[in-house]
Amino acid sequence: MRDFTMAKSVAQRIFAAHNRHDMKILILGSGGREHAFARAIQQSALCDELYIAPGNAGTELEGTNVDISVVDFESIAGFCSDYEIDMLVVGPEVPLVEGIADYFMENDAVSHVKVVGPTQQGAMLEGSKSFAKAFMQKYGVPTAAYREFGKDELEEAVGYVDGLPLPVVLKADGLAAGKGVVICSSRTEAKAELEAMFSGKFGEAGDKVVIEEFLEGIEFSAFILTDGETYVMLPQAKDYKRIGEGDTGLNTGGMGAISPVPFVNASVMDKLVKEVIEPTMNGIRQEGIDYKGFLFIGLMRVGEQLYVIEYNCRMGDPETEAIFPRLDTDLVRLMNSLFDGTLGQQEVEMDPRFATTVILVSGGYPEKYEKGKTIRNLGKATGSIIFHAGTKESMGDVLTAGGRVLAITSLADTMQEGLRQSMRNAEIIDFEGKYYRTDIGFDL
Ligand code: AMP
Ligand code: GLY
Repeated sequence: MRDFTMAKSVAQRIFAAHNRHDMKILILGSGGREHAFARAIQQSALCDELYIAPGNAGTELEGTNVDISVVDFESIAGFCSDYEIDMLVVGPEVPLVEGIADYFMENDAVSHVKVVGPTQQGAMLEGSKSFAKAFMQKYGVPTAAYREFGKDELEEAVGYVDGLPLPVVLKADGLAAGKGVVICSSRTEAKAELEAMFSGKFGEAGDKVVIEEFLEGIEFSAFILTDGETYVMLPQAKDYKRIGEGDTGLNTGGMGAISPVPFVNASVMDKLVKEVIEPTMNGIRQEGIDYKGFLFIGLMRVGEQLYVIEYNCRMGDPETEAIFPRLDTDLVRLMNSLFDGTLGQQEVEMDPRFATTVILVSGGYPEKYEKGKTIRNLGKATGSIIFHAGTKESMGDVLTAGGRVLAITSLADTMQEGLRQSMRNAEIIDFEGKYYRTDIGFDL
């Protein structure tokens, strides 16, 4: 095994040696978000050893990749026990929704591991649209008007659609790999979509469907880190989900991100805290949800009003690649404070500059695309942070291994300057079929 502690400076190592929190950390996941976590954690003097399961060619530069699937709880627990892991940072939602935090709590060999990520009940804020909507309604969090219907209620569902203005929004209740939300511009389309969802288009995720009113506005994302009692706020970000310029075409995992969000001024921030975050925290406390981790709040600003579109029980991707490079506070210290009651004393310091993230994707994504293309000129890109998303190392080459391949983040005093820098590197780095949006931030 490679001794990556050597990669740290002497000063960091001396500091780490004198620090009681000389931690061994395992990150779960393999995308750009996890590379951004790995980079921030590797920079912390509190981290002694870093592992990523399964990771990518970029995370391998920050720590050691371990070939374990994010949903193989038994192997993850076995690894944590064998390698004396102190902290498990869960990147994606699926293991959280499947209850990895609960699994660790209930398993004596690993119950001491600090799992950054909510229990299964908390993860339902993302894992069940029906649960999230009921939670928002109960605790007075502003959200679009809605009703939910089971798969034996097609007629009632169609009746509800008939009474709503167009377009209408249909949401499969469960996780559907980001594809479970369909915006229908006609009643015929909505009826056909309801039939498809109820007949298993998204498997069991569509056994229940939330139907809600369409909100016309501008979206952004807010992030908090919470221990279930208190919270600290991370910077907001805006991501660009559609594949095409001008926000057109199919939805993707995200084609770029900007942080901070220029229109989040003092008055928006005040509403965000008072009308969204405080009632959400109140709900988490009242429901007794054991939530230690990141909460991502997807918002729509309609005029002066904010509405919650969705909760996610994890950080966003690519938002993390724009947010973490701006973090001037030690991420491991922040995450560690979830477990000793000191979160309330933490200050989150941010680099005031803009972070602009542009994603390079494989041609054809988000539909069919090819993998295994050699990525050229990675070493020639300067002045940006290059996070790997879908990449793998093979005999000294870095190859494409997914739809979203790389995230290019630049820090600059203005958004335009940052974007120019990211675009320069997006042009320099090359692989067959490369595609990226050149208009990230166009609406800001
Ligand atoms: P979600 O999977 O919940 O993030 O939804 C995917 C996308 O659908 C969101 O990012 C929004 O762009 C859009 N969306 C969801 N709900 C609504 C709504 N009520 N009104 C307008 N757009 C919505
Ligand atoms: N960028 C959106 C997400 O992570 O869900």
